[in-house]
Amino acid sequence: MIEQEKIEEIKRQTDIVDLISQYFPLKKLGKNYRALCPFHSEKTPSFYVSPEKGIFYCFGCKKGGNAINFLMEYEKMDFPTAVKSLAKRLGIEIETTKGLKYKEIYEANEIACQFYALCLTKTIGKRGQNYLVDRKIDIEKLQDFRLGYAPSSGGLVTYARQKGLSKQSLSKAGLISQSTSSRSLEVFRDRLIFPILNLSGRIIGFGGRSIDDQHKPKYLNSPETPTFKKGDILYGLYQAKKAMRTKNEAILVEGYFDLLSLFQRGINNLCAPLGTSLTERQAMLISRFAKKVNILFDGDLSGMKAALRAIGLLINVQVDVFVTSLPEDSDPDRFVNESGVDELKEAIESAVDFFHFYKKMSKPETVEQEVVLIKDLIQIIGNINDPIRFDRYLKYASHVFDIPVETIKNTMDGRTEFPHKPVRQTRIMPEEKLIAMILNMREHFAEFKSILVPEDFTVPGVRRLYRQLLDRGDIDIDDALTSADEDLRQKVYSIIMRGESVTKEALLESIKRHKSSVEETRIRTKISEARTKGDDVALTKYQKEHEALKQKMLHIKKDPVALDREL
Ligand code: GTP
Ligand code: MN
Repeated sequence: MIEQEKIEEIKRQTDIVDLISQYFPLKKLGKNYRALCPFHSEKTPSFYVSPEKGIFYCFGCKKGGNAINFLMEYEKMDFPTAVKSLAKRLGIEIETTKGLKYKEIYEANEIACQFYALCLTKTIGKRGQNYLVDRKIDIEKLQDFRLGYAPSSGGLVTYARQKGLSKQSLSKAGLISQSTSSRSLEVFRDRLIFPILNLSGRIIGFGGRSIDDQHKPKYLNSPETPTFKKGDILYGLYQAKKAMRTKNEAILVEGYFDLLSLFQRGINNLCAPLGTSLTERQAMLISRFAKKVNILFDGDLSGMKAALRAIGLLINVQVDVFVTSLPEDSDPDRFVNESGVDELKEAIESAVDFFHFYKKMSKPETVEQEVVLIKDLIQIIGNINDPIRFDRYLKYASHVFDIPVETIKNTMDGRTEFPHKPVRQTRIMPEEKLIAMILNMREHFAEFKSILVPEDFTVPGVRRLYRQLLDRGDIDIDDALTSADEDLRQKVYSIIMRGESVTKEALLESIKRHKSSVEETRIRTKISEARTKGDDVALTKYQKEHEALKQKMLHIKKDPVALDREL
């Protein structure tokens, strides 16, 4: 957790125009700046930045927010990372509690990485150097990967002590294990070391390959720690993410060596799971950086099976999936060493789409096998959101398997028409309109704040916004709203960007009107309760109250029109 005050300070100090201009040019237009939206494709610009309000908003795709949101959306950072990145630009120091908790592990890993890297350059690392030469790995071209060698004689504990790092920290990072005789055993010995970096470039764990093939297991990873969860990580992503985003394509390989071997030859949009089959979270992670994924697994049966499994997961996160097939006894590292990078590039470029790959892989021999194949494929296609792509594959499947489109559609669970989401309803509810008016006229709000209480709002997000306004005298939209309030968030940003405001009087009338309608609902409930109970005294009392309220409401003016339209 980062202190709220720090976040406020960072937001206040950040010049959002300056920030966004680092990524693409903005054109001044009156008080605001404008550009083609980076979040959807368009021909005329509808992406606006307001330096005054510190926000951006796209009237096309309705994405909007402050500087933090921009980094989260554009750089795919999580919230703390975005805040930290802005802080860094401004030279503001921040320390998070989570950061502190993990700091010890990060530090231990960092020092271990330095130790292993150092060993690789020294005589003690001769075995590591020779191994790399054997496997044609050019460490000079792979500086970002910080490769190392863990000597069989160890030495990490001593090195760490000299750096002021305790055994306890090494143990927390899973780098040493405590033996019964309380002698600590270093986990990685006589292994080539692959540091594994998270998206911020911190070392969260290591992979180690045995130099001696008799020495099992062939690959050893750091044990799971709070910062190292194998199913959440992709090796190489930190080093490759930029290229992935530029090319909008990711190449998924199976192993460390595949990755390094291709990377040093200039194919740099690569990542690899850590020896386990792809997880949903990893698929999600890739989709944040590339719209297209090319699966380049080993040519053997297990590689092909792993590819089949990965297809469904990747389609579910809405990336376009292609598969490159290699000869059966090969893997990308071997292929590039034997046939050269040009031939590999050719293979990658002639990758087939998931449909063709799936069909080619499973050569059904019986009708039943064919049915299974068709059903598998239909299920995958059913998860494609892009309506055109969905339609194409649907028609294609219909043609290839000679099954009417209608029949296929009917088998897709709960899916009758095109899968894309209905165009979002953006009608503003009265409560939303009111909170937006209040937001746009924050400076006058203090005068009216005694009228409404948070409970007068029924929309949870609106209620939270209002409560915050009462508590703090201001609103931090992102703090008040959660991901479940995305719709409301968009509306609020849109309204703020438009900056429409009404007169103070109109605001007061709206507040009063809302209060009355809340009151009326309350009285109506009481009246019907009294009726059910047959409590005539109470009934008369509430009916009188209702009448009085209705009289009062007559004097409240009609809704101001300024915000009374659809967005
Ligand atoms: P080399 O034999 O060194 O070329 O490795 P490779 O990448 O061709 O290995 P393979 O295709 O057998 O495995 C692919 C990936 O699975 C490796 O890069 C590792 O991440 C992982 N892996 C393979 N063997 C083991 C193992 O014994 N233990 C663990 N934890 N992971 C393994
Ligand atoms: Mn392999």
